[in-house]
Amino acid sequence: MKPVWHSAVDLAASLLTQENVVAIPTETVYGLAGNMLSQKAVERIYSLKQRPLSNPLIVHVSGFDQLHEWVTNIPPALETLARTYWPGPLTLLLDKTRAVPDRITAGSQQVAVRVPSHPIALALLQQIDFPLVAPSANPFTRISPTTAEHVRTYFGEQLPFVLDGGPCAVGLESTIVGMQEGRVILYRQGAIGLTAIEELLQNKVERYAAQRGHTPTPGLSPRHYAPLTRTVLCERGDIQKIYSGHSAVIVFTTPVAGILPENQFILSPSGSLSEAGQQLYTLLHVLDKSGYENIICERLPSAGIGDAINDRLQRAATR
Ligand code: TXA
Ligand code: MG
Repeated sequence: MKPVWHSAVDLAASLLTQENVVAIPTETVYGLAGNMLSQKAVERIYSLKQRPLSNPLIVHVSGFDQLHEWVTNIPPALETLARTYWPGPLTLLLDKTRAVPDRITAGSQQVAVRVPSHPIALALLQQIDFPLVAPSANPFTRISPTTAEHVRTYFGEQLPFVLDGGPCAVGLESTIVGMQEGRVILYRQGAIGLTAIEELLQNKVERYAAQRGHTPTPGLSPRHYAPLTRTVLCERGDIQKIYSGHSAVIVFTTPVAGILPENQFILSPSGSLSEAGQQLYTLLHVLDKSGYENIICERLPSAGIGDAINDRLQRAATR
C-alpha cells in the first residue's frame, strides 16, 4: 500500500528520515536540508550544490534546549543572543561535541547552529529526531533562493521534493555571530544588525572580515551571492554616469531622474529596509534572466539590514 502523508511536512520528514535531501523554507532563504548524522545526505548536499568540502554547513535545531547534545559550552553573550533572537535569523558559532560529524564542519571544532522561525521549518524540525544541515539551496556562488520556484529552477528533477513555504519573509541569509578570545565577532551580516547586537550585549562587536586581510570562512569569500549579469554597487549620484541603455537600475525608494523608468526597479517605495531586504534576491533572480548587460545598484543607507544588503551587493559586484 502506498503511504499516506497528512501534510507536506510529513512527506518532507519521511524523505529526510530516509536520508534524502529536500529543500525547505526558512524565514531567511530556502535551504537544501538533510539529516546532519547521515553521511549519504551530507554528501548529496555537497554534490548538488557543487560546494567545496572545505565550506561547512549550518545546523538547524528546533529550540535552544536541543543544543546540549551538539555544543559543549555556550558563552553568556551568545546565550543572551540566542534567548533574544531564536527562533529567528541568527546563527551562532559554538564549540561542537563529538556527536557532530567533522564532515559537516569541514574539520573545524566549531559548529554553526540556528533555530529558524519559519513555522513550516519549525514544525518539520519538531517532527524529526535529528538536526538538519541546510545550506542555502543554490549552486555554489549563485543567488540564494527566496521562493520554492527559485529552488526548482536551480535543481529541477534532482530534488525529490521542495517543501513550499511561500516567499521568505527576511530574504537574506542569517546573521552569523561567534566569539574569539572573549570578543564577540560578527561573521556575516544579516537582518539582525551590528548595532542591535551591541545594544543588547552592551559591548563592542567586531566585524570579522574588516579585521583580517584573509577570508574568514570559505562562504564569506569576497565574491559570493552573485547574479551572472555584471553587477555594480554605487552611490546614487554616480548611477547616471555608469548607466547605459542596457542597464537595469535598482534603487531604494525613488527612481533616478533622467533614466528610463522601465529600466528602474524600486526595492521599497515606502523606504523600509526590511522590505528592501525581502525583495532584493527576488529582484536579482528576475533581472538576471532579463537580458540586461549590467545591473547597477544604489548603495542603501548604512543601518541595520541596510548594511547586510550593501554587503551582499558588494560581494555580487566583486569579480
Ligand atoms: O539563513 C541561513 O543561514 C540559511 C538558511 C537556509 O538557514 N543558510 C545559509 O547557509 O545561508 P550557507 O551554507 O549558504 O551559509 C552558511 C555560512 C557559510 O559561509 C559557511 O562557510 C559558514 O556559514 N559556516 C557554516 N558552518 C561554519 C562553521 N562551523 N565555522 C565557520 N563558518 C561556518
Ligand atoms: Mg549560501
